[in-house]
Amino acid sequence: MLRWQWFLVYLLVVASAVFAGADYYKILGVGKDATEKQIKSAYRQLSKKYHPDKNPGNKEAEEKFVQLAEAYEVLNDKEKRGIYDRYGEEGLKQGAGGGGPGGGAGFGNDPFDLFSRFFGGGGHFRGARRGPNMEARISVTLEQLYEGTELEFTVPVQTICETCGGSGSADGETHRCGSCGGQGMKVVRRQLAPGMFQTVKMPCDVCGGRGQVIAHACKVCGGAKIVKEMRTHTIPIEPGTPRGTRVVFENEADESPEWEAGDLYVEVEELQESSKGRHGYRRRGADLFRREVLSAKEALYGGWRRDVVFVDGKTNVTLSRKSGESVQAGEREVIRNKGMPRFREAGKHGDLVIEYVVIMPGKGRAKKGHDEL
Ligand SMILES: *[C@@H]1O[C@H](CO)[C@@H](O)[C@H](O)[C@H]1NC(C)=O
Ligand SMILES: [Zn+2]
Ligand SMILES: [Zn+2]
Repeated sequence: MLRWQWFLVYLLVVASAVFAGADYYKILGVGKDATEKQIKSAYRQLSKKYHPDKNPGNKEAEEKFVQLAEAYEVLNDKEKRGIYDRYGEEGLKQGAGGGGPGGGAGFGNDPFDLFSRFFGGGGHFRGARRGPNMEARISVTLEQLYEGTELEFTVPVQTICETCGGSGSADGETHRCGSCGGQGMKVVRRQLAPGMFQTVKMPCDVCGGRGQVIAHACKVCGGAKIVKEMRTHTIPIEPGTPRGTRVVFENEADESPEWEAGDLYVEVEELQESSKGRHGYRRRGADLFRREVLSAKEALYGGWRRDVVFVDGKTNVTLSRKSGESVQAGEREVIRNKGMPRFREAGKHGDLVIEYVVIMPGKGRAKKGHDEL
């Protein structure tokens, strides 16, 4: 009987060791098979969202911010991730498989440190100097604007060197400048005239006025603290998005250890050059316009029916006239609620306007209505 109870207790302990740990994958919102890039991107997005500066007084956000840093530190490290996958959080705490100095997961690192390695600005949004904003454009077909979609695009961006954490130093250390003694300034004696000297303070030429120098430059960024990378974003194109709409990607502009990254603005353009994805339609506001050519006979006597491809590229719009129903050159037929979706007005649409063009016999040219679009 006693043995039985011990066995039960033992089982419970084992079970809790396996299941009680935090699910780092879930915290970052990625799958177990996530690539390094996906993990990094998830941390980038979420840590900005839950940063305490953006959620003042929100304890939940603060906790989430700390958890994100913890999850990222483990999953971004091949060795720690391997241990975590096999033994869970408990395995990391016990230092299974060794690990770095102190063993284990390296918890207790300042989450703001990690954050500043990504975004600069000393790990904070408030109070930091802001870097310049960036602008980009994305071309979208009319069909995509009608349907709504998500598009990936890539922009070149300056990013804080992860290897040195933006210090520019291979060993992570900076040293006091020997030339100015760490003051950043030097006193220089200048001769104004024979026998007349003036002493002036000038920024130190060795350390550039920073008072600190690097002994061994980081191998990856060469001491520049920053590297160039191509960063991929996903932009949601909502149905009916107006031309020229600007979508903001917060803090996704160039990074620097000296500032908080500015915003990336992406302007949505309608692809004009080719007819690809337009299907012969033009857009004005939420209304769509299309020309339809009729022979003189059709225009005069009616009795015709046509399926024209709609702007979605999938369905048809059926146009027809009964026998004896004539159409004037330049006549407009308005099909209500068959235009573009109205932006952010669910279920509402503009109109579709068909403008009839009649081919006159003998001339071989289309006669258009006087009210040219
Ligand atoms: C659209 O019209 C064309 C021509 O009449 C026809 O071949 C096609 O099947 C139609 N498509 C749909 C989805 O109705
Ligand atoms: Zn570096
Ligand atoms: Zn100096």
